[in-house]
Amino acid sequence: MTQPNMPADFFWGNSVSSMQTEGAWQEDGKGLSVYDVRPATDHTMDWHDAIDEYHRYAEDLDLMADMGMNMYRIQISWSRVVPDGDGAFNEAGIQYYSDLIDAMIARGIEPMVNLYHFDMPLALAKSDNGFMSRHTVDAFVRFGAEMFKRFSDRVKYWITFNEHNLYFTDEVFEISGYDHGERTLSEMYRIFHHTMLAHARLDAIAHTKYPGLQLGGMLAHAATYPATSKPEDVYAARKLNEFLNNNLYDAFVFGRYSHEVMHYVKVHEIDWDYQPEDASVLSKMHADFLAFSYYRTDTVNADKIPAGEAPNRYLNTANETNRFLETNDWQWTIDPLGFRTLLADVYSRYRVPMFPIENGIGLHETWDGVHEIADERRISYHRDHIQAMKDAMFEDGVAVLGYLGWGLIDIPSSHADMEKRYGFVYVNRSNHDLKDMRRVPKKSYHWFKEVMATNGDKL
Ligand code: BG6
Repeated sequence: MTQPNMPADFFWGNSVSSMQTEGAWQEDGKGLSVYDVRPATDHTMDWHDAIDEYHRYAEDLDLMADMGMNMYRIQISWSRVVPDGDGAFNEAGIQYYSDLIDAMIARGIEPMVNLYHFDMPLALAKSDNGFMSRHTVDAFVRFGAEMFKRFSDRVKYWITFNEHNLYFTDEVFEISGYDHGERTLSEMYRIFHHTMLAHARLDAIAHTKYPGLQLGGMLAHAATYPATSKPEDVYAARKLNEFLNNNLYDAFVFGRYSHEVMHYVKVHEIDWDYQPEDASVLSKMHADFLAFSYYRTDTVNADKIPAGEAPNRYLNTANETNRFLETNDWQWTIDPLGFRTLLADVYSRYRVPMFPIENGIGLHETWDGVHEIADERRISYHRDHIQAMKDAMFEDGVAVLGYLGWGLIDIPSSHADMEKRYGFVYVNRSNHDLKDMRRVPKKSYHWFKEVMATNGDKL
């Protein structure tokens, strides 16, 4: 059966973070973030130069425009704009984003802005232990509110926290500016709750002061399957999904946490700094869209869950290989149908437009300096995922606003640096050799250009 045409206003584009693209870690008044002080080792790079987009954004935007992208999700780096996190605003940093946004608009590229992507200003990590403290919440709301004020005339689409549910996993201690403590479950829940309060307060400001602005919540949604049809596995997958995904979607859409999470906190006497007035703060939330990253699916085996484990931590021990799926070199499964299932499930539960804003495959690639990189595997990954999304839209009736790939110009990966590339455009640097940072289109560049020229018709 021929599928209908995609909506004329569908977004196609690319998504990145500041620290994975900009470089210029000490330029024009930028303060340090926790990423800036991560030392290089034999196997890892420092993040000082990234792909130098701070100086090369015009060239990168030209490539995006040439491909036909009509959206680019960037991040405004908190420490570039407020060097110590809570003091004076750095006008030179703000000017950089203003110029970048203007340059996008001039090329017909709609900006989406994210406000936090794991790179806490170092000063707040040291003084306040990052999002462990409510003072950091206040500082973040102040920064975000100022960004709405400066840019809402040109930026309509906003998110606050990248992959907000990671703040409910053990990764929280790496990504929230957490500097010291015992890494307890209570601390994890406290940081998570603080970040939700920050989101809720910014959500209220956005929707009361800037009526045209669209703000959504964003998750890392790696859907989890039961390892078998054994009821214990099915139950574990359901419970995990309730904690890691529904709990946040409930908050974004209904303004309250999942009752199962609230019950768990009460029964287990978790001290998560939930104050009486917080319910009212959370209740103000309203999501214009539900955004998420999607790379893979996971599988949970209930037999491997230690007794008494908190449901949001199940995957620490119980993640199992899915023998039905192929993986990339980092054992991330390739699962386009999982993408469709997720879109259909979440939309059916919330009826809020869905927005996949990160999708892609990391591959080992080295350019020989002459020949085009023939990244067939990347082409088939995106082709299959876009087709799955179209099936969700046209067969299951899901409203989808757009499709943004992750890091479609090579950027350092969060776990494997320049060894793991996602781009349609190669960036000529390695972990320890900056080379010339030349941008070189891969085969997938031309393929995706045609996809966008036909608005997703020709895959
Ligand atoms: C997302 C993050 O989890 O996945 C990105 O938002 C990250 O920062 C991306 O780069 C891909 O993961 P990785 O580890 O392969 O870079």
